Amino acid sequence: MRALQLDFDSRRLAVSDHAEPAAPKPGQVRLRLLECGVCGTDRGIADFEFGAPPPGERNLILGHEAVGIVDTPGDTLVKGQLVVPMVRRACATGCAMCRRGRRDNCLTGDYAERGIFSLHGYLCDFAVDAEEDLVAVPAALAGAAVLVEPASVVEKAWELALRLHPGEPRRVLVLGAGPIGILAAWCALRNGFAVTVLSQEAEDAPRARLLTRNGAVYTRSLDGVEADIILEACGSAAVAMAAMGSLRRLGVLILLGARPAEVRLPSLDMIIGNSIIAGSVNASRGHFEMAVRRLLSYDRQWLEPLLVRLPLAAAPDTLRQPPLNAIKVVHRISD
Ligand code: BGC
Repeated sequence: MRALQLDFDSRRLAVSDHAEPAAPKPGQVRLRLLECGVCGTDRGIADFEFGAPPPGERNLILGHEAVGIVDTPGDTLVKGQLVVPMVRRACATGCAMCRRGRRDNCLTGDYAERGIFSLHGYLCDFAVDAEEDLVAVPAALAGAAVLVEPASVVEKAWELALRLHPGEPRRVLVLGAGPIGILAAWCALRNGFAVTVLSQEAEDAPRARLLTRNGAVYTRSLDGVEADIILEACGSAAVAMAAMGSLRRLGVLILLGARPAEVRLPSLDMIIGNSIIAGSVNASRGHFEMAVRRLLSYDRQWLEPLLVRLPLAAAPDTLRQPPLNAIKVVHRISD
């Protein structure tokens, strides 16, 4: 089958031939992949910043934002069912959180992630998964199901922010206007919050207009911005720390994508303000299911402009250099 493979020995990234996965065992299904999005994590792996091939192999099939269709049914999933795979698989030690179905909060760090750590991903024709690792998606969401995985990450961060804030939060500041930033802004707007999004693009850039059309305030400066919750989705710890100046008392900052950096922690302001900084990664089944419901509630005209679809063959190029102005690049695998 065709697969986007990263060779950790020769450091080559290419679409090339890979053996099809072994036939599904009881409790598993085989999927035909329809499409798969790419994100900053995939770019980090392609730059060898993190990620690992399956033990004993030199190639990793990339891709974790996938949509597939069941072609060998299982016990509950029927042939033709649209599904989105969850990314993380439980740690080998079977820690308390993994056992409880919360592998997104794994205690050991010994987990595997499809397309990221030690397991092949989904930028390929076929995959085999346990039914419990798949989330069924209604056909009505077919054109936007590729957003379920990133939206699940947003749902987890949002739930965490609300749980951590001990007061009555009203104002949200989102840092970054990439797919996660836009989905986070929409999620907060839907929950009745006043939302400001900070990013670098011009005020009339398409992604800025997508946000303001739906009720967010778009800004390129933190001047005068105040927030009870800040969601970082811009990749910069320095920007996140600068935004701490906008955090009101009892405020919560959630880090989602900030790269490692030496930054100045405003410790005194944090103490005086009872502020909380937290990190969030991955998502549980409940968050995936919430993401499905959330995306179904959005107008298709919101979602379509986020996506730029390209063939699988273009994946090595889009990973190296994302097309200008594409908010989310999605690779079509089959129809
Ligand atoms: C994925 C998560 C994953 C994380 C770290 C993100 O891009 O959405 O599911 O846990 O990368 O590997």
